[in-house]
Amino acid sequence: MNAVPQHAPQSAGHDEDRVLVAEDLKKHYTVKRGMFGTGTVKALNGVSFALTRGRTLAVVGESGCGKSTLARQLTMIEPPTAGRLVIDGEDVAHASKEKIAALRRRVQMVFQNPFASLNPRKTVEQTLGEPLAINTQLSATERADRIAHMMRIVGLRPEHAKRYPHMFSGGQRQRVAIARAMILDPQIVVADEPVSALDVSIQAQILNLFMDLQDEFRTSYVFISHNLAVVEHVADDVMVMYLGGVAELGDKKTVIERPRHPYTRSLLSATPAIFESDRRVKIKLEGELPSPLNPPSGCTFHQRCPYAIERCRKEVPVLREVDGRQVSCHRAEEVGEQDA
Ligand SMILES: Nc1ncnc2c1ncn2[C@@H]1O[C@H](COP(=O)(O)OP(=O)(O)O)[C@@H](O)[C@H]1O
Ligand code: SF4
Ligand SMILES: [Mg+2]
Repeated sequence: MNAVPQHAPQSAGHDEDRVLVAEDLKKHYTVKRGMFGTGTVKALNGVSFALTRGRTLAVVGESGCGKSTLARQLTMIEPPTAGRLVIDGEDVAHASKEKIAALRRRVQMVFQNPFASLNPRKTVEQTLGEPLAINTQLSATERADRIAHMMRIVGLRPEHAKRYPHMFSGGQRQRVAIARAMILDPQIVVADEPVSALDVSIQAQILNLFMDLQDEFRTSYVFISHNLAVVEHVADDVMVMYLGGVAELGDKKTVIERPRHPYTRSLLSATPAIFESDRRVKIKLEGELPSPLNPPSGCTFHQRCPYAIERCRKEVPVLREVDGRQVSCHRAEEVGEQDA
């Protein structure tokens, strides 16, 4: 199967705009099963997309669908089982050690919980200074200047540089983590649920910070969230994942306003803020996410899908272009029609 992503975001006219390309990316884990047996968890089972310079690809899906596994592949924390990952034009699987080290600097990560991701024994100055000391020729004074500048940019007061993480609020701690991710001016930031652990009242501030930084530095984001309201706020493009695969992928307006995958529709039905004024037919999601250890045959969504037909039990739907987006559903042509 040719898994080269067909998806071309609106602004992507040139290949050099594609800072990251994933082709049929897979991550399978071998796990113990019962007393003696082993099983294979297909946490990521064939994901293809392209990330464009200066844009945000939001990845959305239920807990357990493989979002964090995808984040670990993109940030090269672990190698994929199969598929191709091309970052900055470089095929990661075939790059030299030096090149990989350089790519790791170009791709930074922001985690969900800034308390866990920041070293409690290090001051902000130490946390931000370390990547500069390792990766740049800056003098101590220049590093201190850069740290103060970065703190200001993310909305922290430079005079707090000697403080430890516990002396900050949750939102401020996430600002420190964002400053750490941004301090080497990365090309790509992968943010895995970066506001999910924060008070709702400060989530919007942090989302706006991400967007301001993107305006300023033209960073590309892979922004992971289970929350469609968050996605709606930050995304240029949206990738809806289900059980390790891509259900639907396209620009935000297309995917959210005219969803063609029943699973996307069910996610939207569960997000009243986006759905309220809408006359779309609502789909209530029944049942649990199946186990990636023992995925359903055919379309992995068939047991929960109100559109399912006999074919869905048998035949795996491939990701294909329908009505201006990529969608993996046998009935995608019919699924949006009753909205019109
Ligand atoms: N190291 C691992 N070993 C075995 N299974 C794993 C491992 N990491 C993740 N999984 C499984 O892979 C699936 C996807 O997990 P994850 O990527 O964390 O999903 P999400 O971030 O969308 O909640 C889950 O079923 C999870 O239990
Ligand atoms: S392929 Fe069939 S089961 Fe899967 S989402 Fe489409 S209609 Fe539903
Ligand atoms: Mg996760």
